[in-house]
Amino acid sequence: MKYWITGASSGIGQALAEQLAGQGHEVAVSARSEASLQALAARYPGQVQVFPTDTTDRQALAHAGTQIRARFEHLDVVVLNAGTCEYVDAADWDSELFERVMRTNFQGTVNCIEQALPLLRAGRRIRGARHRPVLAAVASSAAYLALTRAEAYGASKAAVQYLMEGLRVDLWAEGIDVCVINPGFVDTPLTAVNDFPMPAMLSTEQAATLIRRGLERHRAVIDFPKRLTWPLRALRHLPPKWRARLLQPTVRKPDEGASPP
Ligand SMILES: NC(=O)c1ccc[n+]([C@@H]2O[C@H](COP(=O)([O-])OP(=O)(O)OC[C@H]3O[C@@H](n4cnc5c(N)ncnc54)[C@H](OP(=O)(O)O)[C@@H]3O)[C@@H](O)[C@H]2O)c1
Repeated sequence: MKYWITGASSGIGQALAEQLAGQGHEVAVSARSEASLQALAARYPGQVQVFPTDTTDRQALAHAGTQIRARFEHLDVVVLNAGTCEYVDAADWDSELFERVMRTNFQGTVNCIEQALPLLRAGRRIRGARHRPVLAAVASSAAYLALTRAEAYGASKAAVQYLMEGLRVDLWAEGIDVCVINPGFVDTPLTAVNDFPMPAMLSTEQAATLIRRGLERHRAVIDFPKRLTWPLRALRHLPPKWRARLLQPTVRKPDEGASPP
């Protein structure tokens, strides 16, 4: 199978690319850090191909898309995983922070879809009508429940969830399956800077295994670990004011250096 994974220079994307290459798949990998991608490709010669790009740069992405088509001809599975996280301080509102997070997490995903769709459609033409390519994007379990300081990150991931849910409707008749991936906490450079407890944390290998298996089964939603995602999903059914009151102990007080859970 032919995969394209964005955000493969570290964390979840890198672990997923390693697993897929280890199983003999062909994997196109993208991110801005070319050296890290090249190191990954060197471990799987001939199987992992590097297409460095910034997903917020539409022109650079178009170039990467052309290169992927020239090398791979079509794609079977695309995992749009590139993303960032920044937390908001409500006492010191910074709208530029929102712009940065939305640009990478939402617009970057939209930009990648522009390149991915023709390659997935080519897969249907080449491999026949029984073949169902998969378009997947990594959102977050943070989008299940509005959490303290996550106004920018959570909103960007809720936007990705909506984007993919809508696309599932629009691509259904074309035979392209759409998947939303909602991880809980995973031990990566992105979470290494967090100064608050992160319950039910998984390793990148565990996360990659769960994502790979979900993709193989053409799941519409892959979320994990259930011991975190089920309570989050249940809590969002509480009345809004109950939710806000319940989450008060997690709100950082002005004189506190670190964030409580
Ligand atoms: N770790 C968690 O607990 C967790 C939980 C829920 C969801 N997620 C999501 O999972 C995804 C992967 O995150 P991670 O935890 O594995 O963090 P990570 O190790 O920091 O990986 C993020 C990846 O995205 C790439 N990236 C960021 N901005 C980019 C841009 N403008 N253009 C191209 N690539 C870009 C980074 O590569 P370069 O810097 O080299 O470009 C890196 O490869 C993210 O979407 C994140 O929001 C993570």
